[in-house]
Amino acid sequence: MRGLLSPSVMCADLLNLEDEIKKLDELGVEYLHIDFMDNKFVPNITFDTNMVKSFRKPMKNIRRDIHIMAFEPQQFFDAMEIGDGDMVSVHYEACENAHAVLSDIRGRGASPCIAISPDTPVETVLDYLDEVDAVLLMTVYPGFAGQPMAEGSMDRLSALRELIDKSGKDISIEVDGHVSWDHCGEMRSRGADIFVAGSSSVYGKGLPLKEAVEKFYSLVQ
Ligand code: DX5
Ligand code: ZN
Repeated sequence: MRGLLSPSVMCADLLNLEDEIKKLDELGVEYLHIDFMDNKFVPNITFDTNMVKSFRKPMKNIRRDIHIMAFEPQQFFDAMEIGDGDMVSVHYEACENAHAVLSDIRGRGASPCIAISPDTPVETVLDYLDEVDAVLLMTVYPGFAGQPMAEGSMDRLSALRELIDKSGKDISIEVDGHVSWDHCGEMRSRGADIFVAGSSSVYGKGLPLKEAVEKFYSLVQ
């Protein structure tokens, strides 16, 4: 089965987002990666909860892949209308009690994922494998698009895949950050399943969206 694509909407044409979402949906792209930042856990702000809620409106088959880079993320769930079909990643480093947060996401009918930043040991996720559908492995330091890949990310990806496979659980790995044309094939071979495509690939300079999406899928078979 081929890898799944989650283009990062913060890298898209911010003045034409409804069209962008409809085009991705028509191209059969599985997810829209929506980065939510609180300007505390990371020193940046992207979309507010109202925008995150509104992204669902034009969607037919594509689903929200909401990456919450915020302390105590539960405070935003109602305003975002987290629910059926959503995939929601919360940061281990940002939660007082990640177990409760993940259970809240599941209780709303959404798919819970634990996200870990580059300095967090991959073994950390072992405590959560019974509660998540995916692990979001940050391959850059969270907060900004356009960054270089964090040192050691590829080895972390292989180690994480090994840990999950040893657990015998069917858990996906999503990679997020500098998932470039050059890196995505190797990431696939090292065990990544879902690819956040941003400024270093689908939303890089040059290719029209349709060609960029087709090229990405050809690289992550
Ligand atoms: C960064 C975000 C990423 C970012 C990816 O904190 O989580 O989703 O948009 O952008 P690139 O692909 O440019 O690193
Ligand atoms: Zn992200």
